[in-house]
Amino acid sequence: MSELSRRPDEGVVVGRALPHESAGLHVTGHALYTDDLVATRSDVLHAHPVPAPHAHARVLRLDAAPALAVPGVERVLTAADVPGTNDSGVKHDEPLFPDIVMFHGQAVAWVLGETLEAARLGAAAVVVDYDPLPAVLTLAEAIEAGSYQGGRPTVERGDVERGFAEAAHVFSGVTEMAGQEHFYLETHASLAVVDEAGQVFVQCSTQHPTETQEIVAHVLGLRSHEVTVQCLRMGGGFGGKEMQPHGYAAVAALGAVLTGRPVRLRLTRQQDVTMTGKRHGFHAEWRAGFDAEGRLLALDATLTSDGGWSLDLSEPVLARALCHVDNAYWLPHVRLHGRVAHTHKTSQTAFRGFGGPQGMLVVEDVIGRCAPLIGLDAREVRRRSFYVDGQETPYGQPVRHADRLATAWQQLHDEADVARRLEEVAAFNAAHPHTKRALALTPVKFGISFNFTAFNQGGALVHVYKDGSVLVNHGGTEMGQGLHTKMLQVAATALGVPLELVRLAPTRTDKVPNTSATAASAGADLNGGAVKDACEQILRRLAEVDAGRGLPWRDLVQAAYFARVQLWAAGFYRTEGLHWDSTAMRGHPFKYFAYGVCAAEVEVDGFTGAHRTRRVDIVHDVGDSLSPLVDLGQVEGGFVQGAGWLTLEDLRWDTSAGPQRGRLATQAASTYKLPSFSEMPGDFRVSLLQHAHEDGAVYGSKAVGEPPVMLAFAVREALRSAAAAFAPDGGAGTSVDLASPATPEAVFWAVEDARSGDPDRARLVRGGTGVVPDQPGPEEPALHPRSEQVQRDLLGREPGSDGSRSAPVEA
Ligand code: MTE
Ligand code: MOS
Repeated sequence: MSELSRRPDEGVVVGRALPHESAGLHVTGHALYTDDLVATRSDVLHAHPVPAPHAHARVLRLDAAPALAVPGVERVLTAADVPGTNDSGVKHDEPLFPDIVMFHGQAVAWVLGETLEAARLGAAAVVVDYDPLPAVLTLAEAIEAGSYQGGRPTVERGDVERGFAEAAHVFSGVTEMAGQEHFYLETHASLAVVDEAGQVFVQCSTQHPTETQEIVAHVLGLRSHEVTVQCLRMGGGFGGKEMQPHGYAAVAALGAVLTGRPVRLRLTRQQDVTMTGKRHGFHAEWRAGFDAEGRLLALDATLTSDGGWSLDLSEPVLARALCHVDNAYWLPHVRLHGRVAHTHKTSQTAFRGFGGPQGMLVVEDVIGRCAPLIGLDAREVRRRSFYVDGQETPYGQPVRHADRLATAWQQLHDEADVARRLEEVAAFNAAHPHTKRALALTPVKFGISFNFTAFNQGGALVHVYKDGSVLVNHGGTEMGQGLHTKMLQVAATALGVPLELVRLAPTRTDKVPNTSATAASAGADLNGGAVKDACEQILRRLAEVDAGRGLPWRDLVQAAYFARVQLWAAGFYRTEGLHWDSTAMRGHPFKYFAYGVCAAEVEVDGFTGAHRTRRVDIVHDVGDSLSPLVDLGQVEGGFVQGAGWLTLEDLRWDTSAGPQRGRLATQAASTYKLPSFSEMPGDFRVSLLQHAHEDGAVYGSKAVGEPPVMLAFAVREALRSAAAAFAPDGGAGTSVDLASPATPEAVFWAVEDARSGDPDRARLVRGGTGVVPDQPGPEEPALHPRSEQVQRDLLGREPGSDGSRSAPVEA
């Protein structure tokens, strides 16, 4: 056991099932969020955007004068006001005040008013002349036009052509999946003030205070030490506040500098959904070979992500996608190309899983569609393809603890009573022609650490006061995930003091500098390592003071103070053993893998495609949990968010040629369906994998934030099987192409396809034994013939005018 992972013999506060440190404040409404601070300030100005009504256009003229005539309008911010760099991105491709509009709803200027209403009226009065330009909206259009941005990495291992030649079965197809809106309860918010010395202080709902600080500084032409960013807590981030807050913070800070007054910027829900980046939708074209036993043998795929108008985090998201196409499966021969499409949409960004879910969906879709054509249950194909110890990922990292996959898989079969329930499902289906059930199991293997090695560092500042009380600062932010709860437990454990003696202060860049984003699920690993380090430095000094006397904590602290011994320490942690070559796409980017397995049972109504999730069982690996209740909440929440992405949430842009082209049609909860209580599994059972100590992380724990999202694939695969059960053959040999998201509408079409027994429906082409299709097929996806018909007949619009899904093409 490593020093880092070993728990002390006594006073162990980690591992206790404690409520979230702010749970009481959350549920009573007393927890303060950034925008609540406005009420504590006087003289605050409110910022409102001037949104562009085009997806792509040149700004010909911008006249702010009419806005200044509106009562209560204080100032209009434009590019001319920027003292530093007019850019809000780290890639320098995101003008803060653009002269070319790149997506519908982009702000071309901001108005500051005495009230939000004055600012809104002022924004409406600003006169802007545009010269509209052609806009690329869908992935199909981008691929057709060759509209890409950033690098085009390839992950490769073995010899795919040889793999296909040796394969018993070869199939090809196209898989598409939609993006996802973060829909954090708290929208983007910043409050900026400038003090008498010109020091800029921005309170911001950000997962990455350091980067917000840097962007604010470069927009203002200041140095980092002149800007401080504080994040009190977030009402959810989910990756949406990893890079997206910077520009809004910069607008607020610019306003504060120019007016000398506090400036508040909080997006309304509609503005937030319209203006901020989302999960990337992906298009994947693939060819897959299986051996005679049904194991994956070769996979060749090109993944194209929809990056939106700027690069943002699209390249690292793509890298993580490529590093997760394997999911839990050994792919002897594999070649994965990746590219980022450039489209006139919001700049798609980090979202829980960070490309991992999109990459994994590809292989799960491949298995789900091909297994029936091989004549095997998809569950069996999955199990047979599992990694075993000693094997490496396609990018060359050994898969440590691969046996946990088989262990969790077996445990779940037992706990969820899978064999008996499969019989029940079969009996139910035989008795019900119009309603079908299915039970599916899927695994998760998710790499923990930032691919980019340098980000894997954390810092902390721990103060012990003379009275023995302890104040902890660390570089991580709290967004509801329970990081602060875990850090309190780590500090109490490391110092060997009761939890009540420890408090946490809000995250600030002047306390802990140069922090990484709280992201990649690594918050507890990195900051926990740093908090532990700081505490241990203090303990070592105290041990000298104590000199074996065994003084009680308070007396010891007093004695140390009088002996002039430093009672505080800055802690630091960096994850050892990582390396990553982003050009070759090879290395050892992850400290370890988090594993999980999910079994989901669904029921589908054959008339409407409406579906519900009857029962979900999960076994998930969090190592030795730092905080079991927090981890349980993360597993449940992650699963539900994943199920929302895969089965409910449906982003629709106007892709018509009309004047609203590029406008996001789903801008509110009324048109964008989020999971709520009614979509929770009727029976939801989560257990944490036991005996799962992780040697490479703080107190033997594992990260938990993102991996559970991908447990939800079980729901999608169960829906596929339930749709197949409507086929004349009862489903066993029926390959179902299920759109993602598998909304009731999508499931309805899948059921129709399965029912029809139409040979046209299974658009996967079966290569006979050893036969490889010549070409993977044309790049441009064809429209589903039925949805074409429906769009014409029922909706009165031309096919392709509204994000309708594509069908795989014949090889
Ligand atoms: N849980 C809640 N309640 N709210 C959030 O915003 N974000 C997720 C996950 N769990 C999130 C959450 C994402 S995207 C990540 S990367 C991790 O939490 C970040 O926190 P951690 O590194 O402390 O796990
Ligand atoms: Mo999470 S998507 O890494 O913020």
